[in-house]
Amino acid sequence: MILATGNSQLTTELPEYTRAQLALRNGQDRDEIWVGYQGVIYDVTSSRLWRRGNHYEHWAGQDLTRELQKDAPHTEHVFDKFHAVGRLK
Ligand code: HEM
Repeated sequence: MILATGNSQLTTELPEYTRAQLALRNGQDRDEIWVGYQGVIYDVTSSRLWRRGNHYEHWAGQDLTRELQKDAPHTEHVFDKFHAVGRLK
């Protein structure tokens, strides 16, 4: 499936990462903070709302598609200002 991210970048051009590689970017083990959403990985390191990888009881370093749809008071447009850095394998 070809998805266009918020900044119109084609996700097919992005590198693939495994769940284990994404898990290393949970805000605890490394400085980078990444979140998976619908198979696309976004870099939210610059966000003050994701400091240390935690965001309202949710943890970075994993795919949070279901959590956003179920729990969040906002839509996926919150990702628009962040760069997609990869795809989840
Ligand atoms: C209990 C669940 C959640 C609550 C209460 C919550 C709350 C919020 C609030 C208040 C904001 C800032 C205002 C806004 O943009 O609407 C925000 C931003 C954001 N949320 Fe959530 N959220 C939740 C779940 C999630 C989940 C599961 C994800 C990831 C899939 C997520 C990703 C984001 C992102 C990327 C931002 C933008 C951060 C920024 O602009 O610096 N949120 N959230």
